[in-house]
Amino acid sequence: MAALQNIIHPDHLAAMGMRLLDWYVSHARDLPWRSTRDPYAIWVAEVMLQQTRSGLVVDRFRQFLHRFPTLQSLAAASLDDVLKAWEGLGYYSRARNLHAAARQVVQELDGRIPETPEALIRLPGVGPYIAAAIASIAFGHDVIALDGNLIRVLCRLLAIDEDPSRPRIQRFLRECALAMVPPGRAGDLNQAMMDLGATLCLPARPRCLVCPLFDGCLAQRQGIQNELPIIATRTRQAHRDVTAGVIWDGNGRFLITQRPADAMLGGLWEFPGGKRCPGEALPACLLREIREELGIEIEVGELLCTIEHSFTHFHMTLYAFQCRWLSGEPQCLGCAALRWVRLDELDAFAFPVADQKIISHLRALTGASE
Ligand code: ADE
Repeated sequence: MAALQNIIHPDHLAAMGMRLLDWYVSHARDLPWRSTRDPYAIWVAEVMLQQTRSGLVVDRFRQFLHRFPTLQSLAAASLDDVLKAWEGLGYYSRARNLHAAARQVVQELDGRIPETPEALIRLPGVGPYIAAAIASIAFGHDVIALDGNLIRVLCRLLAIDEDPSRPRIQRFLRECALAMVPPGRAGDLNQAMMDLGATLCLPARPRCLVCPLFDGCLAQRQGIQNELPIIATRTRQAHRDVTAGVIWDGNGRFLITQRPADAMLGGLWEFPGGKRCPGEALPACLLREIREELGIEIEVGELLCTIEHSFTHFHMTLYAFQCRWLSGEPQCLGCAALRWVRLDELDAFAFPVADQKIISHLRALTGASE
């Protein structure tokens, strides 16, 4: 790469930056967070966009802002209400952090969102990417928001044939990208590269012939655009079998439990249960988990449904069983809270996607509408 650093001349990079900005004027995607300068709205969008595709974010962004139109309204809301508004978007720590950060800004900063990446990054859930995105898009600071799209675009433009997850490579990509930015335009350039990555410089089969950077792209010139960026080989994803019980009380109500705040999916509600131990039968696993979590005895009945769900670090097969409560008063031994509820009361609680699928199966069984 040392040799490349000589080839990539600042004038070349500046010219590529101007071309990209020209292209962006006529090809920018029409996205709702682009028609505002409100840093709170831009912050919400960037948090949603960090792990979710923009096509899915558009409606959810509008709904969230309708529900919480200002930083102050978000700070004043309960965490339960915020998690409910986030339901289905996944990665719920994003919602918990956004809520905590909004409270911090209101209580400690007089409600004013910090403008620099250095100050932004001190807020809960704000990492280098979100700090750079807010500082550049909302406040006009010239910093690069290096996300997956930018990494791909830049690795190809500069023909970087090393693993871009390395800090040294990321520093180099940021440096080169900064050399592409006319003063005060990093927000537009960041978003132009995001759009180029999402529409033309695609992971597979990039559409080089219509790319504004076609003849300036070093990977294209060498015919190696399909090989870049180099993806470090991943270890095979872990797999977990998990059981969950719909524990009926005999009067049309069943138990739901709230996950501890500091756990994965913290604060969300679920059907109680847990992870199968090696060699353990599924009903035995559920009996054990329910004793440990709630201190009650149940009878495990029919399998209601089997749900496949992928998280970042593992894949889960979730087996949900119909169960009957036999004895013991439920206690919160391994959960934050518990409730006996009817099917028509569930809309007031936020559930992870896998548990929402269990609810759909229950509703289909009873003929209740969604
Ligand atoms: N992905 C992350 N931030 C984005 C933005 N501002 N516009 C489009 N896609 C994005």
